[in-house]
Amino acid sequence: MSNYDISRRRFLGRSVVAAASLGFASALPANASEWAEYSSDFSFAHLNDLPEGTLLPDDEHSWRRIAANYSVTRKITNLENGYWGIMATPVLQEYRRLTDFVNRENTLFARIEAGGMYQGVRDVIAKFLGVAADEIALTRGATEGLQALIGGYTKLSPGDTVLYADIDYAEMKTAMRWLEIRRGVKAEKLSFPEPTPTEPLTEADILAFYERSFDAHPKTKLLLLTHLNNLTGLIIPVAKIAKIAKQRGIDVILDAAHSVGQVDFAVKDLGCDFVGMNLHKWIGAPIGCGLIYIRKERIADIDTYMGKSGGSTDITARIDTGTSNFAAHMTIPAAIAFHSKIGSDAKEARLRYLRGLWVAPARKLRGITVLTPDEKTMVAGLTSFRLDGTTSTKGNDDLVKLLREKFGILTVRRSGLEMGDCIRVTPAIYNSPQDPLKLASALEKIARGHVSS
Ligand SMILES: Cc1ncc(COP(=O)(O)O)c(C=O)c1O
Repeated sequence: MSNYDISRRRFLGRSVVAAASLGFASALPANASEWAEYSSDFSFAHLNDLPEGTLLPDDEHSWRRIAANYSVTRKITNLENGYWGIMATPVLQEYRRLTDFVNRENTLFARIEAGGMYQGVRDVIAKFLGVAADEIALTRGATEGLQALIGGYTKLSPGDTVLYADIDYAEMKTAMRWLEIRRGVKAEKLSFPEPTPTEPLTEADILAFYERSFDAHPKTKLLLLTHLNNLTGLIIPVAKIAKIAKQRGIDVILDAAHSVGQVDFAVKDLGCDFVGMNLHKWIGAPIGCGLIYIRKERIADIDTYMGKSGGSTDITARIDTGTSNFAAHMTIPAAIAFHSKIGSDAKEARLRYLRGLWVAPARKLRGITVLTPDEKTMVAGLTSFRLDGTTSTKGNDDLVKLLREKFGILTVRRSGLEMGDCIRVTPAIYNSPQDPLKLASALEKIARGHVSS
């Protein structure tokens, strides 16, 4: 009997009742291969009578049942779920159970069994993402992972160009600029095209924009892309851009922090060899769960992290998170199981449906510009708008305050776009249709001048 068997029995003795009442797998996996089975062991009492097949986005009965799995503050109507995604209650319970376990078993677990756990959790994530386990490494979030990819990319020489855009995430833009110091390259910031009230952005516009940018910067070797944009909500045609880039010998580092779990896609289909992702946004894992993906054949093109030892095929040598939150990582299979019970496709469609409930009326209002198109391929739940002419940080902060204090709706101001600041609106699957409708009504009053900040 291994040490772990003993600790597991002790653990089981105290936790099995609570775990069973939640419908969870009552035992912790004992080794890596058991972890792979672990996800399929979960059953969620409150999700058991959902209809067969893909849930319809407006099946309110079913979505109410799903929403009942989330414990949400009643202080405000929260339409700011882009920061991170709260755990569903059963996932939270599992996280508590695992936190108790790690806290009690301490280094007996960490020194002896955590390696097997890590491998097993990786297997579960890899299966979910459709990649190989040795193509992913866990991180504490997308920032850490993407910065390791950007900083570790070895194929740059002095004089090369790297491209990023104003719409990319602030910390990744900083990292791309830092390559000027680190690798002696020229970092060029592109001004991504914005839609106007009369001319929405099309996929062709985006592809033409990148073609033009590559023409204008013929020495480009590396491009940063954001799959689902955190400032506007725009989903860009990553696979098509990456294909054009590849033809020109340009590698892409993809920021998929917001797309995993919000959008139904397969990582491999995007054609990007280096991807950073979050699991604590739309998969609903505990805060502190992200990962990097590197296509197997390209692992050697990212330096080992700060000289860490590790071979050319060891992705875990490309990042170093130090002592990590074991319990958070161990909860990932539960979060994936909960997410999968609903389905990425159903979740994406529901979020887009909720988004449509405020966007459709907002589009008809004079003085408001919605910054994302309505095409299914170009948007999911997250969408931003701007009061025409209100581009300052203060103006947008005032509007966020007005929405919060006068209407009881939480949104967030976003900065970074060349064209100015905007307001981001992000429903989650626990939101009811009344929530975006409440925003629509508030925006109508604001646009008609019936209320001002
Ligand atoms: C597009 C994008 N990239 C990266 C990140 C960073 O994620 P984290 O803060 O979890 O590391 C975020 C977070 O909001 C994001 O929206």
